Amino acid sequence: MSVMNILFMGPPGAGKGTQAERIVNKYDLPHISTGDMFRAAIANQTELGMTAKRYMDEGGLVPDDVTIGIVRERLAEADCANGFLLDGFPRTVEQAKALDEIMMNLSKKIEYVINIDVELSALKERLTGRRICKDCGATYHVMFNPPKQTDVCDKCGGALYQRKDDNAETVESRLSVYTNQTKPLLDYYQKVGNLTSINGLDEIDVVFANIQNILGSNL
Ligand code: AP5
Ligand code: MG
Ligand code: ZN
Repeated sequence: MSVMNILFMGPPGAGKGTQAERIVNKYDLPHISTGDMFRAAIANQTELGMTAKRYMDEGGLVPDDVTIGIVRERLAEADCANGFLLDGFPRTVEQAKALDEIMMNLSKKIEYVINIDVELSALKERLTGRRICKDCGATYHVMFNPPKQTDVCDKCGGALYQRKDDNAETVESRLSVYTNQTKPLLDYYQKVGNLTSINGLDEIDVVFANIQNILGSNL
């Protein structure tokens, strides 16, 4: 199996986490989500968590130096040797430049940048209807991907909860932060030439199939 380093881009609610869950299961890659790392730090009440919470609750970005630091450490860990899937990083041009440098120092490169493209008008409904398992982290949607039993995880029986930043007001801020700070990165990766966009409005299974097509037989 060849080494495969994958980056998922896309606005809040595009389906990055949903698809990442499936891809890392299928191909046995570590799923590195900066959002998940911050939420774990908040749950553990660490100093990192306290810092991150201030920004996340407002729908803003955690400062670049903090975010870049945790990604730098994570990508150097042994389980990333055979590839990884990065979800939610980079989100600023500064972070993208830092990632280039981190990869260069590790003698690695990002093979695939996959942009899950969804028009912003569809995202509010996706985000406000999202539910997550408190035990295994599986993601559901009250309408688009409901669990068999209301608020109970199909996979592990855990209780489902709603993310604190998935309220209508915070979603507005997250979407404008995306437009202003993260969307410009698509040009950055377009220029490097390894960006592929897929239609994230398709059904979850169809999006999953399309991502597998992009990854092809390399994995
Ligand atoms: P993060 O956790 O990364 O959140 P996000 O980017 O806002 O993205 P989401 O996780 O909300 O969306 P997703 O694309 O994963 O969608 P999902 O698959 O769940 O970041 C949170 C915060 O942390 C940031 O706001 C920031 O403060 C901080 N942070 C994180 N990274 C940072 C960084 N690099 N720098 C600075 N700060 C950072 O799907 C959403 C819903 O839609 C679900 O209910 C799902 O079931 C449903 N759904 C998925 N696919 C489909 C489909 N095809 N059709 C219908 N419904 C679907
Ligand atoms: Mg996510
Ligand atoms: Zn679960």
